[in-house]
Amino acid sequence: MTEATFLPAERAKLQSNTNPSPRSDPMKLRHVIESQQFTLPLLMELFTRSRGMERIVARGGSLDYQNRIMAALFYQPSTRTRLSFEAAMQRLGGRVLSTEHARAFSSEVEGEQVEDSIRIIGSYSDVIVIRHNETGGAHRAARVSPVPVINAGDGDGGQHPTQALLDLYTIYRERSLDGLSVAFIGELDKGRTVRSLAYLLAKFERIKIFFVSPPELQMKPDILEYLDEHGVRYELESDIDRVIREVDVVYQTRIRPERMKDTQNLKRYAIDSAVLQRMKPDAMILHPLPRTVELDKTVDTDPRALYFRQAVNGLYVRMALLTMVLEK
Ligand code: CP
Repeated sequence: MTEATFLPAERAKLQSNTNPSPRSDPMKLRHVIESQQFTLPLLMELFTRSRGMERIVARGGSLDYQNRIMAALFYQPSTRTRLSFEAAMQRLGGRVLSTEHARAFSSEVEGEQVEDSIRIIGSYSDVIVIRHNETGGAHRAARVSPVPVINAGDGDGGQHPTQALLDLYTIYRERSLDGLSVAFIGELDKGRTVRSLAYLLAKFERIKIFFVSPPELQMKPDILEYLDEHGVRYELESDIDRVIREVDVVYQTRIRPERMKDTQNLKRYAIDSAVLQRMKPDAMILHPLPRTVELDKTVDTDPRALYFRQAVNGLYVRMALLTMVLEK
């Protein structure tokens, strides 16, 4: 199911399910499925908690959640998301059940539907973190789950809201979010991290987004329509050089060469030491990782390269999210 194919009634149900009592407590989170559910006050609450988690990790963690269990159910590969969620739960004193290759090593092999798996796993755990191969997979899980569900990435072109939250937190730690100009570069049509971050950026003032991609991999209309509705300025570009000098944030993503019409052009969407020279001195370079050729290793030592810090921030933000969904 794509973003655009949620029926209005389904979306309303999901939103009331994600924030179960918006009138009585707007800070309460039930599930974390998509970026749109985060209000500005919720984002600020999350960021305040994330700052607190930095201090908790620095002193070795806490025991506050020692009776709580997180299940990690991953139908697709992951290094950062799964391990940072596991580390997050353990730093909070909780315990973890994990299936890192659920498509091969869970009862899905026998034809079990995700709904049945979730009902069962929800009876063993207090929160389920799921990465599913289908767009809408996390939403399906949330509909039947007896415990909170966190979307750790769904489908090819769904969302990856916790990545976007840690991306935003990384920017927020450096500068004000209002007035940002951001270049998203790479394979944008199926980029779930870019899709989720675009939704979050739309909550801030005077944002300008450049989507830089080969035309066949450009951002899909559903996101562009959302930005139009929310008054966010954006441009579609195919040439890095036309934007790189003016943006505050370069958000680089990978391109699968097999999806390009002309793979000779792959280098045109890469960041290397030559591109670095044309960027603002105080720009930020983000990448959700893993990377391939689109981000040269020579960039790593540049002070503007924040992608390893992003991954560290993932631990703090995921700890904060766990505390928010586990709060009674
Ligand atoms: N950024 C991200 O989602 O990385 P993993 O695929 O390693 O989890």
